[in-house]
Amino acid sequence: MSETASLNLGDKTYELPVTTGSENEKAIDISKLRDQTGYITLDSGFKNTGCTKSAITFLDGEQGILKYRGYPIEQLAEKASFLEVAYLLIYGELPTQSELDNFQAQLSQHALLHEDYKKFYDGFPPKAHPMGQLVSLVSSLSAFSPESLNPNPSKDDINLTIIKLLAKMPTIVSWIYKGSLGEPFIYPQNKLDYVSNFMNMTFGQVTHEIEIDPVVVDAMNKLLILHADHEQNCSTSTVRIVGSSEANLYASISAGVSALWGPLHGGANQAVIEMLERIKEDGGDTDKWIAKAKDKNDSFRLMGFGHRVYKNFDPRAKIIKKACDDILAKLGINDPVLEIAKKLEAAALSDPYFVERKLYPNVDFYSGIIYRALGFPTDLFTVLFALGRLPGWIAQWKELRENKEPIGRPRQIYVGETERDVVEIAKR
Ligand code: SDX
Repeated sequence: MSETASLNLGDKTYELPVTTGSENEKAIDISKLRDQTGYITLDSGFKNTGCTKSAITFLDGEQGILKYRGYPIEQLAEKASFLEVAYLLIYGELPTQSELDNFQAQLSQHALLHEDYKKFYDGFPPKAHPMGQLVSLVSSLSAFSPESLNPNPSKDDINLTIIKLLAKMPTIVSWIYKGSLGEPFIYPQNKLDYVSNFMNMTFGQVTHEIEIDPVVVDAMNKLLILHADHEQNCSTSTVRIVGSSEANLYASISAGVSALWGPLHGGANQAVIEMLERIKEDGGDTDKWIAKAKDKNDSFRLMGFGHRVYKNFDPRAKIIKKACDDILAKLGINDPVLEIAKKLEAAALSDPYFVERKLYPNVDFYSGIIYRALGFPTDLFTVLFALGRLPGWIAQWKELRENKEPIGRPRQIYVGETERDVVEIAKR
């Protein structure tokens, strides 16, 4: 006998089916609720609403658990490369060596951008925010890939579109950075692996070869893995709902980049560093800023703290915090904002305001300190988040299309004016 939920409305009782996931999560299936009862549900911010069944990522906010296709994030961060994790998210299994080599070869083949594509960069003013550029540049890929606009794409069409986007994103991102410096673009090098190639295009020079520090490449791999997917967060839900209209992959991912830009979401990593710098300039009085974060009359929030789902700790933040210490030590960097971050964390975790609201450091709290240590400018941090999240967005879009999910179209409860007659302007 499958489990049901009873709903009493007036003198009627309705039995609603309950769905149980592979990790024993439970959902009341309301897909026929309105037809049966005339009622809809209301859930601002979708805090209690599932939009899909997905086999990609599982997270448990109470236990601080995050797994990609069943593999714990802690193990993937230690034992896999970002490209292996991208393959896992998109195709469902970790690759064998030959599968990974073939995947890397396909990406190398498509890492270049059409020479006409470079003209887009000329149109941005030097201080244009990198996320605004990325939104435009990702969507513009469809202009150079007609197969991506096929209304009934074959599996090969879809896979080619995926490969092209994954291959070109490091080039697009590194050229945004080079463009901001007025430096010549560095082209992809097939002899380099995915992350080393990105680091070379970002920090390389046309005048000479640069040494790419393996410590830096390892740190970047780890950061990208930790950002790779996170089930139905704001930007992934955006990618899904745009994809549900059968918009092409580039348009769907571009929409996800837009959603990620917000300071409450991926934009938080930039906001955290700006906050830490502000506290440092202000003398480093963390107690003063904790008080501001708690003050309802003060718009200041502790950026990098709190999470919609994690109500214990963000497992990614724990890994990044340790990586922060390791990498700064290995690179011999002493960043004063790291100490301020640790003081803030310690103060917040012992303060009832944060404890009662279950506010802990999230993925964005320490990541910016590492990005800065690796040489990236602050306004590029959220773009780096997008680079990491790309395989997750792609996997979720692919799953939605393969499952032929319906176009997303939520309902509402209308609270505006009831019917009234128009009065001509002369009589108003
Ligand atoms: C990401 O969803 C994902 O998975 C996202 C992400 C991913 O990988 O995709 O994990 C990436 O977006 C991480 C979050 C990055 N954002 C920030 O660090 C911005 C700061 N955090 C907050 O804005 C907030 O915590 C959110 C947006 C993350 C979560 O907001 P919720 O779940 O809507 O919670 P809320 O705003 O309703 O807050 C509940 C209470 C409120 O106080 P009360 O009204 O109950 O008195 O907690 C307070 C809030 O005022 N609060 C904070 C706070 N976060 C929440 N108070 C001070 N500082 C904060 N950071």
